[in-house]
Amino acid sequence: MSQRGQFITFEGTEGVGKSTQLETAAQTLRTLGVEFIVTREPGGTPMAEAIRELLLAPRDEPVNDMTELLLMFAARAQHLHTRILPELEAGRWVLCDRFTDATFAYQGGGRGVPAERIALLENLVQGEVRPDRVILLDAPVETGMTRARHRGELDRFEREAVDFFQRIRDTYLERAAADPDRYQVVDAGRSLDEVTGDVTRRITELVAIA
Ligand code: TMP
Repeated sequence: MSQRGQFITFEGTEGVGKSTQLETAAQTLRTLGVEFIVTREPGGTPMAEAIRELLLAPRDEPVNDMTELLLMFAARAQHLHTRILPELEAGRWVLCDRFTDATFAYQGGGRGVPAERIALLENLVQGEVRPDRVILLDAPVETGMTRARHRGELDRFEREAVDFFQRIRDTYLERAAADPDRYQVVDAGRSLDEVTGDVTRRITELVAIA
């Protein structure tokens, strides 16, 4: 039996360079000869991607917080059980663009759903499964929002105001401070070269200790 793969997630507010740094991490694993997949949430399987479209589409109808929360976890149940866990069990690493920390940050911090309710669903859907490491790309909200707004049509979340994203950033940082062994906070406000160098170093270290 091969050793179980590592489950690494990438988190942050809009426009902090998450996708770019996920590619840096993938490139580092490729160089080191580690087998991996790259995936994302909400999404990662055809059905979960269909739920993502439902969640991100701007709509006139107000979306109830509980509807949004349950759809996030519906997508996650499908993704985790049909894709992520089989890959980890086959020994491959999983690099995932967002996971349940995003739910605590967006639906919890952003929308105001109590963290205990989210934790109930986390336990129900995931059992004991948690990411082995969370790479949190952190930058001032204004920096990221400016970048995100240059990418074109805004989705339902990107249309929110600055204070929504400020609460999200604060929640991410609180969660990281409470569990410093699992979270790696990367200062994403620096130059691209510096951030890329930092992420490369951290992923190389994770491979060395895995
Ligand atoms: P992104 O993949 O471009 O970051 O878009 C996904 C959006 O979904 C982003 O605005 C964050 C949001 N989201 C949540 O609100 N809760 C979640 O649990 C996840 C995974 C994403």
